[in-house]
Amino acid sequence: MNRAADDDRSLIAAARAARAFAYAPYSGYRVGAALRVEGGEVVRAANVENASYGLTICAERAAVAAAVAAGHRRFEAIAVAADGPEPASACGACRQVLREFPAGPGLRVLLAGESGDGFVATTLDALLPDGFGPERLGHATGERR
Ligand code: THU
Repeated sequence: MNRAADDDRSLIAAARAARAFAYAPYSGYRVGAALRVEGGEVVRAANVENASYGLTICAERAAVAAAVAAGHRRFEAIAVAADGPEPASACGACRQVLREFPAGPGLRVLLAGESGDGFVATTLDALLPDGFGPERLGHATGERR
């Protein structure tokens, strides 16, 4: 097995493991996300629901917040794993939040179900074509400050 395939598998395994920490009493739908950042570190997170339903934080956005708060902005790939056999997808809000950072449309996105060898490998550009990003406002992606 080559290195890139191993990296994909271990990122999906991390996203699946993160599902155990989901706080999803309302939907019962647990989602885990794992971001591989420059240098190889993996940052994991899960969805966090709220009794005021609209305040729910998806796993992907929780992972972005955790990574940025730990000093990471250069994301290489994100894996998302959800309950059930079918690959998860990422909601529109999470796609837009991922678009903000330096990988931009080129971010590698891996979508998986809760088990099995199958997964979907795609890019943010495929999930969010013609997305709106910080460069449109004259800012570099993920710039300091
Ligand atoms: N959810 C995620 O965590 N990521 C997504 O991309 C889609 C939805 C969560 C939010 C909520 O806790 C539950 O899944 C059902 O919508």
